[in-house]
Amino acid sequence: MAGRSAPSRPVGTATRGTTNPNRLRRMDRWITAERTEVLRRARRPLAVDLGYGAAPWTAVELLERLRRVRPDAEVVGLEIDPDRVAAAQPYARPGLSFRRGGFEVPLPGDARPVLLRAANVLRQYEEAEVAAAWERLCSRLAPGGLLLEGTCDEIGRRHVWIALGPDGPRTVTFAARLSHLGSPAVFAERLPKALIHRNVPGEPIHAFLSDFERAWAAAAPYAPLGVRQRWMRSVRSLAADWPLTDGPKRWRQGEVSVAWGALAPR
Ligand SMILES: C[S@@+](CC[C@H](N)C(=O)[O-])C[C@H]1O[C@@H](n2cnc3c(N)ncnc32)[C@H](O)[C@@H]1O
Repeated sequence: MAGRSAPSRPVGTATRGTTNPNRLRRMDRWITAERTEVLRRARRPLAVDLGYGAAPWTAVELLERLRRVRPDAEVVGLEIDPDRVAAAQPYARPGLSFRRGGFEVPLPGDARPVLLRAANVLRQYEEAEVAAAWERLCSRLAPGGLLLEGTCDEIGRRHVWIALGPDGPRTVTFAARLSHLGSPAVFAERLPKALIHRNVPGEPIHAFLSDFERAWAAAAPYAPLGVRQRWMRSVRSLAADWPLTDGPKRWRQGEVSVAWGALAPR
């Protein structure tokens, strides 16, 4: 994707700042378990938490978790709302800073992050704005870098995110606290902006969630063995028709990832 010259005003619009401690733990866990190599091989393990919200908890936690993989990891929290940048300053420390910025991802020395996270940011934009935001964000990644863009509920029990590389979207991950899942239908209301309005008949995401729900119903006999067994069984049967990109190790964590190409809007 092409680079762009830096604009003088942050690109984007300030939106509600709702956040919560530990809200993004499923994403953090996936990064440090599944995408470790992005951090390990980085010359400079620099991550950005874009749109961290009214309080900087998710950025603080991201730094702590990334440092378990790379003790020299750095996190920059970027926010378009200047009051939220000011409110975060007491949390700054070596390796963690807070700056004003938007989709242009302004970093000192024009540094490029290996990891860029935008959680619960695009959900408040129009669907038509997503492609341009992705393109801008991806163009700021270091070579081999990763953008995670997605949505979750207030306390992070249900989460759906898209992982993108510098060349664009690659996978969609569904992650849940299984004991509170109910059924896979609950993911419908947490779909990222690029998919949420496409959950209608004729679109791949609708077919996928319908198949997931059917697989869940068919796996009901496994419920007495525990919700994890039922989830594992459902996901295993999905693998017959959908290009899943992960396996039992992640499924056991209440996750499943699907190749973007199979879920991309028509
Ligand atoms: C709902 S909060 C999400 C907070 C946190 N990421 C989380 O998931 O808990 C969304 C935040 O994104 C910020 N925001 C919206 N558009 C932005 C942009 N283009 N660049 C940076 N921040 C943005 C808003 O100001 C708001 O504080």
